[in-house]
Amino acid sequence: MKQSTHSWQDGLHVAIIMDGNGRWAARRGWPRTLGHAAGVRALRRVVRAAPDAGVGVLTVFAFSSDNWQRPQHEVAALMGLLGEYLRKDAEGCAEAGVRLRAIGRRDRLAKPLVSTIEEAERITAQGSRLLLRIAVDYSARDAIVSASGRLANASTREDFLRALDPDGGGKEVDLLIRTGGEQRLSDFLLWECAYAELWFTPVFWPDFDGQTLEVALGAYHNRDRRFGGLSSPAA
Ligand code: IPE
Ligand code: IPE
Ligand code: MG
Repeated sequence: MKQSTHSWQDGLHVAIIMDGNGRWAARRGWPRTLGHAAGVRALRRVVRAAPDAGVGVLTVFAFSSDNWQRPQHEVAALMGLLGEYLRKDAEGCAEAGVRLRAIGRRDRLAKPLVSTIEEAERITAQGSRLLLRIAVDYSARDAIVSASGRLANASTREDFLRALDPDGGGKEVDLLIRTGGEQRLSDFLLWECAYAELWFTPVFWPDFDGQTLEVALGAYHNRDRRFGGLSSPAA
């Protein structure tokens, strides 16, 4: 039997800052938006590879709240690509057992895009192999501020995590990957990454594939996660 029959609750939570699309395109003398289109193809490859690689929750950074500062035509291209991805892939995701969720603010997104997101979430709601969370208009600092308002009396970290990240399956991030060479978090999952292993690669996101994911996971499995304690004798 294939190991892919596991459910997403049993797998790792991997988060990816999909960076470097613009530079990937610029290197070829192409407009940045072609880099974003190539980035969507990379996302498809990684989603296909993730469940068999032991990933249960995959949270990808598609558009940060700070990305609104980009030129209007680039913002429009990114939003268009997101809608197109959800419309084209939701059905296939459902068949592959991938449950889609968007995280981040929705009130500043165009209404048709919000409907597309809701439809993709509805179609894929039964997916049990992989929870794919796409962060759009997402800021970790804003998410923390609004969760604090909602759960002022949260007494435990678990309560707080549920308020902050109700769709994360109660999982903090195990492995945070950032492509494109920068080594920073850019306001992504700050609370959930408290003990995440960090893996940075100069590979631009459009060149990322299942094999790169395996390399990152290989590095992860060789880390000694002590959580402030001491190595277990077996480690
Ligand atoms: C990541 O690629 C996609 C988004 C941030 C939306 P970039 O667009 O940041 O590409 P670079 O970093 O400029 O190369
Ligand atoms: C972070 O990348 C956001 C996404 C990948 C969606 P940026 O390219 O926006 O981050 P900075 O500006 O390099 O920190
Ligand atoms: Mg960037």
